[in-house]
Amino acid sequence: MVDNLDLLIRDAQACQACALAASRTQVVVGEGCVPSDLMIIGEGPGAREDELGRPFVGRSGGLLDRLIAEELGRTREQIYIANVVKCRPPNNRDPRPEEMEACASLLDRQLKLVAPRVVLLLERTAVGRVLGTKVPLGSLRGRLYDLGGVTVIPTYHPAFALRGGAARLTEMRVDFARVHLLLEEGRP
Ligand code: URA
Repeated sequence: MVDNLDLLIRDAQACQACALAASRTQVVVGEGCVPSDLMIIGEGPGAREDELGRPFVGRSGGLLDRLIAEELGRTREQIYIANVVKCRPPNNRDPRPEEMEACASLLDRQLKLVAPRVVLLLERTAVGRVLGTKVPLGSLRGRLYDLGGVTVIPTYHPAFALRGGAARLTEMRVDFARVHLLLEEGRP
């Protein structure tokens, strides 16, 4: 089968592979440019995302948009944004292993279609799932990882930076600036 974005969206919207299907308002497949040199992956939709069917449109999304503009000089339309799970976990709890497993083929298909050079992972759930590690994010941050030729950069979730104040935000800016260097100059 030759995959494409329309097929992916259709499959995601019809998905009943885990219990999150029963409580979702909308499937939040992902959005942006396909293909794109950069893909950003978060954890899972929150209340606002579930309502609108779009990733990162709540408060965290506001900060993400700012970092994309200020550190990368881009808009969200120029990159691709998705989540590990496409349906909202009730009460914003962490996605369960079986829910991430049920969603894994959709994320794999997105990675193939978007074909990014760089993947920016927001928060430990995305880091754990994509890099297959349980090592705490604090120990992984600040280094680059290779995923079959794709450069992966782990950073914090915007919500964590919103709660963590200026120091956390500065660390996120450093990570975004690194993404910028990689994309524009191929430099780590
Ligand atoms: N947090 C996430 O991880 N993803 C979203 O889409 C929104 C908030």
